[in-house]
Amino acid sequence: MRIVILSKGPGNYSTRRLKEEAAKRGHEVRVINYAKCYVTVERGNPAVHYKGEEVKDVDVVIPRIASSLTKYGTSIVRQFEMQNVPTITSSIAIVRSRDKLRSMQLMAKAGIGIPKTVFAREEADLDVVLEQVGGAPVIIKVARGTHGNGVVLAETRKAAKAVMQAFYVESVSFVVQEFIAESAGVDIRAFVVNGKVVSSMMRQSLDDDFRSNLHQGAEGIAVKLTPEERKTAQKAAKAMGLPICGVDMMRSERGPLVLEVNSSPGFGIEKVTGANVACKVIEHAELVAKAGRRKDKVGA
Ligand SMILES: Nc1ncnc2c1ncn2[C@@H]1O[C@H](COP(=O)(O)OP(=O)(O)O)[C@@H](O)[C@H]1O
Ligand SMILES: [Mg+2]
Repeated sequence: MRIVILSKGPGNYSTRRLKEEAAKRGHEVRVINYAKCYVTVERGNPAVHYKGEEVKDVDVVIPRIASSLTKYGTSIVRQFEMQNVPTITSSIAIVRSRDKLRSMQLMAKAGIGIPKTVFAREEADLDVVLEQVGGAPVIIKVARGTHGNGVVLAETRKAAKAVMQAFYVESVSFVVQEFIAESAGVDIRAFVVNGKVVSSMMRQSLDDDFRSNLHQGAEGIAVKLTPEERKTAQKAAKAMGLPICGVDMMRSERGPLVLEVNSSPGFGIEKVTGANVACKVIEHAELVAKAGRRKDKVGA
């Protein structure tokens, strides 16, 4: 099979692992920096160009689009879709996953547990917004943040209002969320491939940070999911239209609550759990290539 990995970092661990496993299974792999691709749009001929040449004869695309380049990256993925090239993750599902509010709406509709979340405009009464999520302390999140950057714990009503006002002044879109105090500093990452959890870890902040992002210095340890957690992760993947994703959950008093679904999950989890996740992804890519392009079924 001829596989194209769309990745900005040919040297990063996840891209290297995908390349390695694909080569092991006898595939021809090209890593293409989508940030340096350009597309030509004309009647009947949607082409992608890279390093002066048209990218042709692709059996399946594996997108690894950075959140800082969602718009450009997904436009490249879409161009392949226009050529009917199958992709393991659709451009629309990537776009959806990058918006925290939209993701929460989809999961709430699918009956998945999420922290109570409010999205409001400047005109709203901030005290009422805070009341809706149970009052301070609350979590305030930038709608398009990642790696824990843009997630604030406001411990008092005053602090929460000041943060919201600051975001409004800068026209930053955000959501306000109930603070899950009982498992602060800990979350669970479930890696889903082909709709099934294939590996899972717990991430724990090593200092007093309430965020458990590895990028904020948290540590990962292998963890066995409860049947409910497994089911929740798989339901979340389906609700987001992402057969391959990383589902982040918190263990709360009322069961698992999904924080977010990552459409380009890192393979660092392999080092924690020992599972060969990259191989599973390549196996899935083989199935996708055979089945051909699928329609997105989320419809929102
Ligand atoms: N509602 C919440 N209650 C308690 N902790 C939270 C809550 N939301 C997020 N966190 C903590 O902050 C981290 C980052 O939040 P997340 O929504 O995953 O944003 P990001 O996309 O930046 O990773 C989570 O991994 C978790 O540890
Ligand atoms: Mg996160």
